[in-house]
Amino acid sequence: MKGIFYGLGVGPGDPDLLTVKAHKILQSADVIITPTKKMGKPSIAYRIVESHITDHTRVVEMSFPMISLSAERETLEKQWKENADEIEKILEEGKSVVFLTLGDPMVFSTYSYVMEYLLERGVEVVTLSGVPSFCNLAAQINVPLTQGEESLGIVAMTQPIEEIQQILDAHRNIVIMKVSADNKRLAEELEKRGLENSFVLVSNIGMENQSMIRDIEVLKGDIPYLSTLLIKKDYDITL
Ligand SMILES: C[S@@+](CC[C@H](N)C(=O)[O-])C[C@H]1O[C@@H](n2cnc3c(N)ncnc32)[C@H](O)[C@@H]1O
Repeated sequence: MKGIFYGLGVGPGDPDLLTVKAHKILQSADVIITPTKKMGKPSIAYRIVESHITDHTRVVEMSFPMISLSAERETLEKQWKENADEIEKILEEGKSVVFLTLGDPMVFSTYSYVMEYLLERGVEVVTLSGVPSFCNLAAQINVPLTQGEESLGIVAMTQPIEEIQQILDAHRNIVIMKVSADNKRLAEELEKRGLENSFVLVSNIGMENQSMIRDIEVLKGDIPYLSTLLIKKDYDITL
C-alpha cells in the first residue's frame, strides 16, 4: 500500500507557531522532504521545525529553483514533475512523506504544484495548514487585517503591474507578498495614491532578525526576500 503524502505548513518563522497536528505528523513521519533553492543549504522551513524532528526520520533535500514562473514555466514544470516522481517512489515503498512549506501550504507555495501531480496519480494527500506570514504580521502589530464587511486584497509583486494597481485601487486592506521582486515600483505606486503613511513592511517575521519599516524611502532600498507589506487605508498603524 502506498504511503500518505503530507503537505505541512511550518508557519512564517517562530517554531512555537507549529500546530499540534503538524508536530504529531513530524514525529511519526518516515521521510521529510525539505525543498531548497540551493542544495546543501538547509531551507528556512527545515530550520523552523528542526527541533520537532526525531533522529530516526530520513530527511531528503529536494531542489526547487527560484526562477520566474511566467518566464521559465517549462523548466519549473520539469523540475516539479521529477520531484513528484521521486516522492512517488518513496510512497510506493509504503512510507509516509512530509513536504515542508514556509507559512501555509496553500499560499504561494511550490508544494501546491507537486501536490497536483501526486493527486492526478491517485496518491492520498493530506494538507496541514500553517500560519500564513501575513496573518502573523497582523498579529505581531495588533492590527486587524479586516473588520466587519471589509475586503482584503492579496497580491504578489511578481504579478503584472496592472494587476497590482487594480488590487491597490479596489481594496481598503491590502497584503503585498514577494515585495522584494519590485519594492521600488511598489513605493512609487503607494506615493501616487497618497499611501506613503498607510503601510508597514515586516521582514523575517517571527525570526531573530525580524524588522519593521514604515518609511517610504527605506522601502525603496534593499529589502530581504522574506518581506510582506500591509496597507491599511482607514486604520492608524501605530507600532
Ligand atoms: C513563496 S511565498 C510563501 C508564502 C507562505 N506560504 C505563506 O503562507 O506565507 C514567499 C513570500 O511569503 C512571505 N513570507 C513568508 N515568510 C515570511 C516571513 N517570515 N517574513 C516575512 N514575509 C514572509 C514573503 O512575502 C515572501 O516573499
